[in-house]
Amino acid sequence: MQNRYDFVVDLAREAGEKVLKAREKHIEISTKNNDPKDIVTNVDVEISEFISGKIRESFPNEAIYSEEATGEDISSGTFWAIDPVDGTALFSRNIPHFSVVIAYVEGGVPNVGSIFNPVTKELFGFEKGRGAYLNGKQIHVSNVTDLNQAHVFLRAGRKKELWDWGANAYRFLLEHANKTANFGSSALDICFVASGRIEASIYGNLTTIDIAAALGVLKEAGGILICKNGQEINTLSKEKQTIMAANNRDIVNALTAGIKF
Ligand code: IPD
Ligand code: CA
Ligand code: CA
Repeated sequence: MQNRYDFVVDLAREAGEKVLKAREKHIEISTKNNDPKDIVTNVDVEISEFISGKIRESFPNEAIYSEEATGEDISSGTFWAIDPVDGTALFSRNIPHFSVVIAYVEGGVPNVGSIFNPVTKELFGFEKGRGAYLNGKQIHVSNVTDLNQAHVFLRAGRKKELWDWGANAYRFLLEHANKTANFGSSALDICFVASGRIEASIYGNLTTIDIAAALGVLKEAGGILICKNGQEINTLSKEKQTIMAANNRDIVNALTAGIKF
């Protein structure tokens, strides 16, 4: 059987190059989930089909979850998880911060995965128990422990109920963090935490299953993922959650002192 790590690395690269080629042609933008702000393009759907097809060729009969497809039974917890384009809103406007995200999840835990930004050619990958890598070089979270030295990303999300939460969180970061920003590919952002480029990335409303690969990278790089009540989670969910990816417990404690989890 083909090595799953080599498979996800090669496939993310191949799919990413296809995303770039598709970008040169006309991109059709539409909305989904009855939400005028939830954007999808023809490229998201084409790449989802391409990746699923390749997985079926090499691993027939294995379940596939894709953000842009419906219906396969993944209740066993063992399946492939695909986000064909993470950062679609940016992709649709030619902003070069988006990624192809592929993971193999076993028993609910990300096992191998890759995240590829085809513009920068950066490929993040991980193998459970064997580390996380950026273009083949091992990565680790930063060892910053003071929030006033920390760079923190924040994305409140579109949900009205989270607007005040987001405004308060941003206010807290302006006062206490070193830098704050708001990028638009959660998978890449979380890989930035994993590779020590930033200390934390916070989301008011994020689906974790799509970006299973990034969560694997974070864990293998020594980072932690926090959800409600500041608890650490390993689980992947199709439900949107308030989460934080962080480099260490000191930064989590400093952030949760001012931002409600
Ligand atoms: C989005 C990105 C973004 C996050 C949004 C997601 P998509 O994914 O991950 O960073 O803030 O909540 O929906 O829709 O571009 O795949
Ligand atoms: Ca996504
Ligand atoms: Ca997507």
